[in-house]
Amino acid sequence: MIKLAINVDHVATLRQARGIDEPDPVFAAGICELAGAAGIVVHLREDRRHIQDRDIMLLRQTVKTKLNLEMGAAEEIIQIALQLKPDMVTLVPEKRAELTTEGGLDVIGQEKHLSDVIARMKAAEIPVSLFIDPDAGQIRTSARIGATFVEIHTGRYSDAQNAKEEDSEFSLIAEAVDTAHEAGLRINAGHGLNYRNTARIAALSKIEELSIGHAVMARAIYVGLDQAVREMLALCSCITI
Ligand code: PXP
Repeated sequence: MIKLAINVDHVATLRQARGIDEPDPVFAAGICELAGAAGIVVHLREDRRHIQDRDIMLLRQTVKTKLNLEMGAAEEIIQIALQLKPDMVTLVPEKRAELTTEGGLDVIGQEKHLSDVIARMKAAEIPVSLFIDPDAGQIRTSARIGATFVEIHTGRYSDAQNAKEEDSEFSLIAEAVDTAHEAGLRINAGHGLNYRNTARIAALSKIEELSIGHAVMARAIYVGLDQAVREMLALCSCITI
């Protein structure tokens, strides 16, 4: 059955808005795990706009499931990851001005740099996932340079303006999942998934895990974090194809 990893960055965003010490993403991560999440995801950005170094250090000690550190491939963050030894890292493109991660990584264009980063992580026994658009070239290059996982970017599917567009983006994701599977990669997916559009992606049986943040945190404001996670888990497990 597909697993659900919860991204708790937004808890830190709310804390940073006040510059005080609550709400605490470390506490939130514990609630997500108790509700059944199979992993916790945090993005340590170079500008530290939400998650702080203190958070990842505490999460490393407290997360009982799996800690996935999302990060840009910048040297400062690479050094932190090598010391922290999360259960895995997900490399993402990072631009200072963006509101959230915008596109997938250009693995083809950055093949040399990314393969060096993967080799350094592997030497520290940290599996690497590359966050990429559903594109066969990016997938095959990811496999060739030694990635363990790819995370297929579901953002364009989530942003689709009508059913036709959603169907065509879904087909691209389904094809990408097959291509990644044939290339021997393990497969995660995420970005923009919500309570309406997740079940269809979760039904793609070759995907191991979904990474979801915004929709769960938004719902948590109304119904509480425990219930928001449980409702998303129920959606993820209702159909399998
Ligand atoms: N996966 C990656 C690589 C991301 O950068 C993000 C956003 O931090 C997510 C998944 C989760 O996206 P959302 O918050 O839209 O669920």
